[in-house]
Amino acid sequence: MRMLFLSGSGELGGAERSLLDIVSSLRQAEPSWPLHLLAPADGPLVAAAAAIGAQAAVLPLGPELVRIGEPSGDGATGSRVELVARLAQALAPLAGYRRRLRSEIREVSPDIVHTHGLKAHLLAAWSNPGIASVIWHLHDYVGRRPASAGLLRRSLRRCTAIIANSLSVAHDARAAFGDRVPVVPVLNAVDLTRFAPQGPRADLDRAAGRLAGAPGVVRVGLLATFGRWKGHATFLDACARVPRDLPVHAYVIGGPLYQTDHSQYSLAELQALAARAGVADRVTFCGFIPASETALRALDIVVHASTDPEPFGLVIAEAMACGRAVIVADAGGARELVTPGVDALTHTPGDAAALAARIQELASDAGLRARLGAAAQATATRRFDRTRLAMELLPVYRRAVAGRPLA
Ligand code: GLC
Repeated sequence: MRMLFLSGSGELGGAERSLLDIVSSLRQAEPSWPLHLLAPADGPLVAAAAAIGAQAAVLPLGPELVRIGEPSGDGATGSRVELVARLAQALAPLAGYRRRLRSEIREVSPDIVHTHGLKAHLLAAWSNPGIASVIWHLHDYVGRRPASAGLLRRSLRRCTAIIANSLSVAHDARAAFGDRVPVVPVLNAVDLTRFAPQGPRADLDRAAGRLAGAPGVVRVGLLATFGRWKGHATFLDACARVPRDLPVHAYVIGGPLYQTDHSQYSLAELQALAARAGVADRVTFCGFIPASETALRALDIVVHASTDPEPFGLVIAEAMACGRAVIVADAGGARELVTPGVDALTHTPGDAAALAARIQELASDAGLRARLGAAAQATATRRFDRTRLAMELLPVYRRAVAGRPLA
């Protein structure tokens, strides 16, 4: 089978890393399949895909189209009007892009176009010359982006199957699209050789240009893009509530990754938040660390604090595979990954007091951290081994090719 993966970004956010895991898993299961990947901009995804044996290329989307996006959630008032207006302004570049994508699809001549990201879903549906089955891989809740959901609904007949990264996202997709297209949940997986308890650890203090932390310090970190819903404010607020006599130091790892307008914090904003919460001296901003497993291993406690329901939460699975003690915001797909009190602790999304209590509990009990970490690693080994991805995706691809609907 010939595969074309279409990404919505050239960066390495969760959706793109999940895409790379799929490519690796397929490469191993079906070594003879030609795997092509097309990104809308150059970036680390392209080199990473090439390194694992995909033919990776860039079809530049151009500045007008790159920045179009719909922020998720309740703060997104007016976004529908804005999205449609911006799409209307970008009609000429959009038509040009569809032409180029159509000829690229003809050239690659794939059986399947497997798309990742809302823009990629739409562009593939609108540009498929009818030779491939288009499969949308949902990494986020379409229900939280009503304007995009409307566009996707109108393009549904050009999609053969929908894959969702959690049961929760699958449920949301069925609510948005009905049963016209099969929705198949395929939970993400991780590279268990890379995300493992043993291995090099990043020097988080040096990475941020500070002197190494004092011995005995408990390191607690949030590793995420700077998306506004990733819970940085909750995390900083929680850190301010942890008593100062506990030797806790906090790390914010990551950066603003995507180019969509209005959706992210800047570093300066987060630093100001830390200062306002009175924790500037207890928080280190490390920036983006590409070898994220080395950062996870350097932390004693990994916090996931998303304030909106997290569709999956790759970093949770990765931290578990590294045998870390994890605190998870209990909502969405993230809650499918853990058993509270057994392999993780949880808190209600946005509840800084509850998060502070969990941090305090773990920071003062090394035995509890070790028990949770060991159980987390066992769960990850059982549920998140990425050889499972090909096993679950191959039947979807085969069915899609056999029952191709109208182009
Ligand atoms: C998106 C989701 C995240 C998920 C990732 C990979 O980034 O927001 O929850 O882990 O995709 O599927």
